[in-house]
Amino acid sequence: MRDAQGVPSPSHHDPGFRVRIRTLDDLEGIRDLMLRVYPPPLHGPGAIWGERNLLRHLAYFPAGQFVGEAVDGTIIGTATSMRCRIEDALAPHTWSDFTARGSLSTHVPGGEAMYGVNIAVDPAWQGQGLGRALYEARLALARQLGCKAFIAGARIPGYAAVAHRMSPEAYLSEVAAGRMKDPTVSKQMAVGFEVKGLLRDYAPDPETLGHAALIALWL
Ligand SMILES: CC(C)(COP(=O)(O)OP(=O)(O)OC[C@H]1O[C@@H](n2cnc3c(N)ncnc32)[C@H](O)[C@@H]1OP(=O)(O)O)[C@@H](O)C(=O)NCCC(=O)NCCS
Repeated sequence: MRDAQGVPSPSHHDPGFRVRIRTLDDLEGIRDLMLRVYPPPLHGPGAIWGERNLLRHLAYFPAGQFVGEAVDGTIIGTATSMRCRIEDALAPHTWSDFTARGSLSTHVPGGEAMYGVNIAVDPAWQGQGLGRALYEARLALARQLGCKAFIAGARIPGYAAVAHRMSPEAYLSEVAAGRMKDPTVSKQMAVGFEVKGLLRDYAPDPETLGHAALIALWL
């Protein structure tokens, strides 16, 4: 398909982006992306990946780090993963302890679970299939490595708006049953994840009041 100027434009078969492995050249693009996904002052500097941790991810587990790139080269998505023991990921934990404050020094090379440390899509690109494409890349890698499960703590950004009238457990069970929609967890359920329970005080976040859903997909 071409527009009036003869420039190729996205067609049904061309989503306008691709998913690929992260490289050292992507670090600034990822930082800019994170500022669009978690804008200050609502979100603090802790929500934005620092260069030191991004470099550590590439040192500990380079194959597990993906980006989504628009046709013009802009970084519009990122997904960070590590491996771990299944039983550890299914037990109550915080994001900071589990990932060693985002450094991934807790990555277990032979771990039977792939753990979703972070996934983010540019707000202007959300709802267009990039999140699913990033999950599919991670799931394909997990299968290739012989992992048995993909497990993550998933933000519940719809919770703060209803926190005055329900507990996070009640909110999550409504979302899991499909009676309420959460901007993040409902999408992860559409991708195939099941909700296993609530992780209280998982990570500081004004939209989730710190809570997350424990989600899992068996491979
Ligand atoms: C969560 C996130 C990564 C998803 O990315 P995305 O590009 O918007 O996701 P997609 O467009 O691929 O949608 C994924 C699935 O959810 C479905 N979906 C979209 N909106 C939905 C909604 N409101 N309710 C239920 N399902 C929905 C899509 O149809 C798609 O399923 P399909 O492929 O079967 O059609 C993205 O919204 C994001 O970055 N959010 C902010 C940061 C965040 O919360 N990250 C998660 C950390 S745990």
